[in-house]
Amino acid sequence: MIKFDETTNGFLLSGKNFSYAAYVNGEGCLQNLYFGKKIELEDLGYLISRGGNRASDADKIPFEYGGYGRGDYREPTIVAERKDGAAMSGFCYVSHKICDGVPEVQGLPHARSGGQTLSVTLKDYFSDILVILNYTVWEDSDVIVRNAEIVNTGKEPVTLKKAFSFCADLPEREYSVLRLYGSWAKERYPEVTKLGRGVTRIQSLRGASSHQMNPFMGILCESCTENEGECYGVQLIYSGSFAITAEVNYNGTLRLQGGINDLNFGWKLCGGERLITPQAALCFSCEGLGGMSRAYADFLRERIINPNFVYGRRPIVVNNWEATYFDFDDEKLFSLIDEAAALGIDTFVLDDGWFGKRNDDKSSLGDWFVNTDKLKGGLKPVIERCKKNGLKFGLWFEPEMISEDSDLYRAHPDWAVKKEGVEPVRGRNQLVLDLTRGEVVEYVFNAVSEILTEYEISYVKWDFNRTLTEFYSARLPADRQGEFAHRYVLGFYDLAERLTAKFPNVFFEGCAGGGGRFDAGALYYFAQIWTSDDTDGLERTKIQWGTATCYPVSGMSCHVSACPNHQTQRITPFETRGAIASLGATGYELDLTKLTEEEKQNVKEQIKAYRQIDDLVLKGDLYRLSNPFESNYFCEMLVAKDKARAYVVGERFRGDPCDYDRILKLYGLDENKTYRITELNLTASGKALLNAGVLFPRLPDCGSWIWHIEEAK
Ligand code: DGJ
Repeated sequence: MIKFDETTNGFLLSGKNFSYAAYVNGEGCLQNLYFGKKIELEDLGYLISRGGNRASDADKIPFEYGGYGRGDYREPTIVAERKDGAAMSGFCYVSHKICDGVPEVQGLPHARSGGQTLSVTLKDYFSDILVILNYTVWEDSDVIVRNAEIVNTGKEPVTLKKAFSFCADLPEREYSVLRLYGSWAKERYPEVTKLGRGVTRIQSLRGASSHQMNPFMGILCESCTENEGECYGVQLIYSGSFAITAEVNYNGTLRLQGGINDLNFGWKLCGGERLITPQAALCFSCEGLGGMSRAYADFLRERIINPNFVYGRRPIVVNNWEATYFDFDDEKLFSLIDEAAALGIDTFVLDDGWFGKRNDDKSSLGDWFVNTDKLKGGLKPVIERCKKNGLKFGLWFEPEMISEDSDLYRAHPDWAVKKEGVEPVRGRNQLVLDLTRGEVVEYVFNAVSEILTEYEISYVKWDFNRTLTEFYSARLPADRQGEFAHRYVLGFYDLAERLTAKFPNVFFEGCAGGGGRFDAGALYYFAQIWTSDDTDGLERTKIQWGTATCYPVSGMSCHVSACPNHQTQRITPFETRGAIASLGATGYELDLTKLTEEEKQNVKEQIKAYRQIDDLVLKGDLYRLSNPFESNYFCEMLVAKDKARAYVVGERFRGDPCDYDRILKLYGLDENKTYRITELNLTASGKALLNAGVLFPRLPDCGSWIWHIEEAK
C-alpha cells in the first residue's frame, strides 16, 4: 500500500481506487507528484524531473507543506514566529518511516485502526522547527488521512501563528468548489461555484464547527456530476474554529490546505514541545460526488465512529422536546411513555428542563440535579414507568454551558468564559464554561457521571446551544490567549472521551441547537447527531441530502414531528415525515397522546417497516437519485453492499402540470441482476432500471413514496 523507491526518492500511497504520490526533489524538498486514480510509481517516473527550491521557482512547486517568506507567495501552511520576530520558513526532507496502523493523535479524535502510515520528517532551514507529516491509507478506502506534528527542537519558545494540518498542491485544471453552508434549521446546504484565481476560504470562527459552514470542502474537476467525473474532498476531523482554503495560483495550480483556524490563533511552543494538528480526511473519487459521499460514509463508519455502536441497531426514540418544551410534569411524561410503549417505540428521551430550577432557558445550566418542583418524585418514577413499559430511558444534558442564574455560577462565576470589564455576549441567555481549565472539565465530568451512575440511563443527548465569544481564559497567560479556541475544543474532547469511556454502554447522541456541530470529530464520540431542529418533511430532504455529501445516513438523527411544523408552519402528510425520517436514525418528537388513531397506526407501521430496512441505513451504500435543490423531486436509495436489496424513498414537492413522464434512473443497482420492485409490482433487469429508469410517481404536494427492491431469483 505504501511504497518508497530509493532511486527516485518517491513515495506512493494507494487506497482502494486512488494513489497519492510525492517525492523528495533534487534540492531536498518534499513535493507532490500525483493524487488521482490508482496508478503505479514506476509509471510516474517521467514526471520526477520537475523541482527546485530557489525563490524564483518556489511559488510553482507543489509542496507537501508550504513555507513562508521565501518566495512561495501562496498562503503558507505554517507561520512560526521566533523570539527575534523572524518567521520565514522552508522545509527539507530529513527522514521517513512506514509503519502499520495509525499514528497516535493524543487528545484529538482520529482514525481508529488498521491501515499503514507514512511519516516524513521535515526540517525548517532557518529554525529549530521540525514538521512530521503523517499520511495514513487503507486498502479498502478511498480516503487518505493527513496531519502534521510540529516540534520545537530548540531551547527558545516559538509562537505558531498558523499551523495547518496539511497542504496538497494539485495541477492546473478547471475546478469548482463545493461547500456546505447554512444556518440554524437550514444546515449543510450545498453550494457549488467556479474556482477562480486567488484564495477561496471557508471557515468557522465560532469555537465550534458551526451551522454556518461545515468543515468540509469538495473540489469538482471539470464536468463532475453526482454520478460521474473526478472530485476531491477535504474533511477535517475537528469540531472547533477551522479554515479550509483553496488557492488557485497565477499558473492555474491549486493549493488545498486546512486545519485549526489561524485567525486569533497563537500557540506557544516551548523547547521540546510538540503541537499535534487535527487529522484531515482527503478523498478522491472518480465516480462523481456520489462516489465521494459513499467513500466518506464508509470511512467514517469503519474508522471514526465508535465501533461498539456504529453498526448496532439504533434505539427508536420519542423525545419530549417538541411535545412539551419546558412545560411538563410527572403525569405528562407518564402519559407519553405509556403511549410510546403502545406504539412500539423503544426509548423515551427526556429533553431540556428536568434539572435545577429550569422552567425556561434563563436558568440552571450547570446544576445537574433533578428539578423536584417539576418532577415531584424525581427521575426514579419516570425511569420505573419506562421499565414497566419495556422502554429504555434517555436524558438530555448541555454539559459545556452555565447559566448565570445557577448555583454553579454563584459558586464559581470565574468558570464562565468571559473577560473582566467586558460585558459578555449571551447566547440563549447562557454562558459557556471555560473548558480550557482542568478543574472545570473535572466538575462537569463528575456531575454528569453521578447522574449516569445513579440512574439507569441508556442514552444521552449532549446539546450545545450557543457558540463562543470573548475567547479568553483568566487562567491563561497573555502570551497564550491565542491558544484558547483550540484548548476549548481539547477540553470538550477530554470530557467526551472520559464520559464515553466511563459509560461504554450508554449511547451518546450529539446535538448543537440542531446540527451546529455535525462533524467527524463529534461523530467520533457520538454515533449519531441531531441533524437539525428543522424536521419539516420538505426542508429535511434538503438538509439530509446536503449532510449526506460527506456523512453516513446512520450518523443523522431524524425525527417525525407534529404538523403544522414548529419551524416552518408547513403541513406535510404523516407518511412523508416518516418516509424521510427513515433515511437515518429514525425517531419521534411530538405529543403522542394527541395523535389520531390513524396516525397511531401509522407510527406502528413505520416502526415495523423501519426494522425491516435498518440494516441498509446502518451498512448500505447511499445513492442520491434526485436532487431536491434542483428539481421538484427528492429521491435517495440505500443499496445493500452485495446489491441484492435496495430501499428507495422519494418525495414530490409541488403539483406541476408539466411535470410528467420524468425518468428516475436507479443508479447503484447491479446491471447483471434482475430486480423486483414490490410496490410497483415490477420485475426488470438492473441494466434497464439503471439506464432506462422508471417513471417518477405523480403525487400531491409533499407526497412521498417508498419502494422495496429485491433481487428476483
Ligand atoms: C436544541 C436542540 O436542538 C433541541 O432538540 C432541544 O434539545 C433544545 N435544544 C433544548 O433546549
